Amino acid sequence: MEILENVPLAPYTTFKIGGPARWFAEATTEADILQAVDFIRAQGVPLFVLGGGSNLLVSDSGFGGLRIALRGLREHFDADTLVLQAEAGEDWDHLVSHAVSFDCAGIECLAGIPGTVGGTPVQNVGAYGQEVSDRILCVRAFDLHSYSFVEMSAIECEFAYRRSIFNTAAKGRFIVTRVDYALTAGGPPTLGYADIRQHFQDWEQTPTVSQVAEAVRAIRRTKGMFLVEGDPDSASAGSFFKNPVVSQEALEAIIAAVPPGTKVSQYPAPDGQVKLAAAWLVEQAGFTKGYGKGRAGISSRHTLALVNRGGASAAEIFELSEEIVARVQAKFGVWLQREPVLVN
Ligand code: EPU
Repeated sequence: MEILENVPLAPYTTFKIGGPARWFAEATTEADILQAVDFIRAQGVPLFVLGGGSNLLVSDSGFGGLRIALRGLREHFDADTLVLQAEAGEDWDHLVSHAVSFDCAGIECLAGIPGTVGGTPVQNVGAYGQEVSDRILCVRAFDLHSYSFVEMSAIECEFAYRRSIFNTAAKGRFIVTRVDYALTAGGPPTLGYADIRQHFQDWEQTPTVSQVAEAVRAIRRTKGMFLVEGDPDSASAGSFFKNPVVSQEALEAIIAAVPPGTKVSQYPAPDGQVKLAAAWLVEQAGFTKGYGKGRAGISSRHTLALVNRGGASAAEIFELSEEIVARVQAKFGVWLQREPVLVN
């Protein structure tokens, strides 16, 4: 494996933003990972690991970038469970297509999400009524503490909404190299999410998992959440903010802050709390789709996605995000949390 110097990371991210990594290596085997980690440590610069680059806002240099490009996809059936074992660098949407080609259910609603397998347990990818953690059997990773490869069960990964041990307590400690998923052969697709129900409302028969995956891709396309080369709305990291979970009292305060009769987008959350639609809060705080100053803006199709309109810097995107956080805070008393990983 070659170790390169001063490699711009913008082309490796969906935002198309990012200065050069001081050192850069692309690992295609576990041995490459060891070699790169040894090298980057010896240089005394921080290590930064990237996969599909779809949930990142990278600023500039000074670190050693390691791109995980391990490939390989194996499957076997265990009664009516399909176990899909995927190396971390496999394209996520390709894995979804593979699963639905066997008519297996469990990740069909996660179709069309940009990025690679290795990122899915880290932020517990979720969409349209499914979370990847419900289908993860085991995660193999390189542990930078014990300097060895380990295998972790789903429980050990401590999954929650957009969270896992990998982006909280053990952030920076593990490099995911492989994920095993358990899918249900012949299982019914998940049809609970409003957008999906609406898509199939005129259908007489239940759609197949493959039809649901296609529907999700179509829905994502209408929201600019499907990567299309040249589409300015898709130079983003998907949702830039998490949907906040708040108490009943906080909800009352929000209802009081909007004109009477306004429908508040809310969903039940654990412990009597409610999950709010961050996109709705952002709009109610006065932002519109397509809002922006210069090169950083809000997507013209989904208020939750910030977009690089061409040549934006990480600082410009960050500034816009701060403006949004501040206005939502001032109007509703809710702090929006950023979803993408900020590098440097
Ligand atoms: N809404 C608006 N304006 C918009 C879009 C949405 O007000 O421009 C409100 C509406 O009330 C709508 C509600 O927000 O009913 C929910 O919108 P949507 O179904 O688009 O979902 P989301 O909550 O904005 C979440 C995930 C997405 C995922 C979708 C679909 C988070 C942070 N985001 O978005 O995930 O694709 O649900 O399930 O949980 C991502 O994480 O990067 C991502 C794209």
